[in-house]
Amino acid sequence: MRQDDLLWIAIGSLSDIPQRGARCVEHSGKVIAIFRSFEDEIFALEDICTNCDGPISQGIVSDRSVSCPICNWEIDLKNGQALGADVGQVQTYAIQRQEQDILLGLPLARGVA
Ligand code: FES
Repeated sequence: MRQDDLLWIAIGSLSDIPQRGARCVEHSGKVIAIFRSFEDEIFALEDICTNCDGPISQGIVSDRSVSCPICNWEIDLKNGQALGADVGQVQTYAIQRQEQDILLGLPLARGVA
């Protein structure tokens, strides 16, 4: 999705999220998990596992993936894909850091100027 098709909203600062952990924000009825890696990379994924809807924000983060707390599927934080023999896709969102501030990119509703 092009940058200008997104509405960027400030959702907090890096220090709000523990390293190798996640915090959630809600938007339009969806819960979005904001993950922080050990290297302070940030990722945004819908907080619903593709297997049976487990809350991936409560999973264990290692490198650039999270292990789902329910049945342990591993989800790639960058593209939302299930890893290994598992198949599935978690919705991802654009996210960026401006120094310590975190901005989440949400798709603009069609027709919004
Ligand atoms: S609910 Fe996530 S692996 Fe089953």
